[in-house]
Amino acid sequence: MQTTTIRRIGAHEGQDVRVRGWLYNKREKGKLAFLIVRDGTGYLQAVAFQPEVLPGVFEACQKVTQESSLEVEGTVRKDDRAPGGYEMKLASITVHQLAHDYPISPKEHGPDFLLDHRHLWLRSSKQHALLRIRSEISQAIRDFFYERDFVLIDSPILTPAACEGTSTLFETDYFDQKAYLSQSGQLYLEPACLAFGKVYCFGPTFRAEKSKTRRHLTEFWMVEPEVAYAGLPEILDLAEDFIVSLVARALDRCRAELATLERDITRLESVRRPFPRLTYDEAAAILMRPEVRARARTQDAPPFEPGSDFGGFDETVLTETLERPMMITHYPATIKAFYMQPDPQAPDRALCVDVLAPEGYGEIIGGSQRIHDHDLLLQRIGEHKLPVEAFRWYLDIRKYGSVPHAGFGMGIERFVAWIAGIHHLREAIPYPRTLNRLYP
Ligand code: 4AD
Ligand code: MG
Repeated sequence: MQTTTIRRIGAHEGQDVRVRGWLYNKREKGKLAFLIVRDGTGYLQAVAFQPEVLPGVFEACQKVTQESSLEVEGTVRKDDRAPGGYEMKLASITVHQLAHDYPISPKEHGPDFLLDHRHLWLRSSKQHALLRIRSEISQAIRDFFYERDFVLIDSPILTPAACEGTSTLFETDYFDQKAYLSQSGQLYLEPACLAFGKVYCFGPTFRAEKSKTRRHLTEFWMVEPEVAYAGLPEILDLAEDFIVSLVARALDRCRAELATLERDITRLESVRRPFPRLTYDEAAAILMRPEVRARARTQDAPPFEPGSDFGGFDETVLTETLERPMMITHYPATIKAFYMQPDPQAPDRALCVDVLAPEGYGEIIGGSQRIHDHDLLLQRIGEHKLPVEAFRWYLDIRKYGSVPHAGFGMGIERFVAWIAGIHHLREAIPYPRTLNRLYP
């Protein structure tokens, strides 16, 4: 007898097959037992009819409990009412391990309880759908860059210096010196783009965020492309193509998962080029409108101060009614990272972009053109009080064939949260790490 996955069961209509999985749910009605079996690829209803199965089989169906591991064998038949379009007429069942008192029941549990049981919560249909979407998006990201001739350059996780400000560094002992967990692979990609032209990295990233917002994790995955001979305009186009392509991929391959999550996909279907592009000053003018400031007060949000960075409330206001992501450029250089190229027309502005997702999801991408002039970069390192010695190698690439170059970073949990339409980032990563959580 052939073993099949539930996802591929349609190819076996009329045949006898074996499916290995776990009991998701169960119903009994007189001489009928309905087992909902999950195997990680889908859900299958297996139906046992007492007079037709061998002695012992029906009793085993009655005894088996939620999340017990089991194998079912039987005939595949088409049934349009069944979740995947097929069900199994059960002939035999083997229970591998009988689970006792599985802690997650269909009743409501609080978020802390569920997060403490994350190792089991992964099996629940919504979490399962979310992590499948994440997996598809990760693959789509790799495909996107591969198809455009980018070279994957893995950046180190243990680093000697800060990249994105010193306030969110995780410090660790590195033999007799200090090391920090990487906040971004960017500094290591810049030399690589001068070696390979177009490169990207995609890996775990760490920020010792003391904030408890729904948009911050202390460990997340960031994908970062970096392109030689590129400036801000090229990076804006790349980010736009990138997002449009990832959204299309999710709509193409994650229909079932988006349906499980009850995501309104018409919102995603309207994500097309071009995205609205605003300068920081234009966005700031919206936030300075009296009605917006009045609303901030009613929601206890800190009112926007001209010249400062946008907060969560500000990002929500700017994007809640949008259908497409918004690109905001030319932030004041003082509130952005040390490596950003100043705008030649207005040197107090940086050639940078934040991409905000629609529906109030906030910043999903941050990027910029990088300073390619050695002396200017040296000066900025000094102004930001960063240790010059640790940046010698980074300055070096401004001495040997320096060119304008640019790139961006996207945290995939923020992207997945938006695509899936979930409130909090912590469900978009298999094992979330936040200010208060290191378990499991
Ligand atoms: O804007 P950020 O800090 O930019 C950089 O790190 C650049 N070095 C990237 C580059 O140009 N190569 O972070 C980029 C993105 C954010 O837009 C957000 O999606 C995500 O990383 N991100 C976080 N995601 C979850 N939790 C956090 N604490 C995050 N901090 C940033
Ligand atoms: Mg940012």
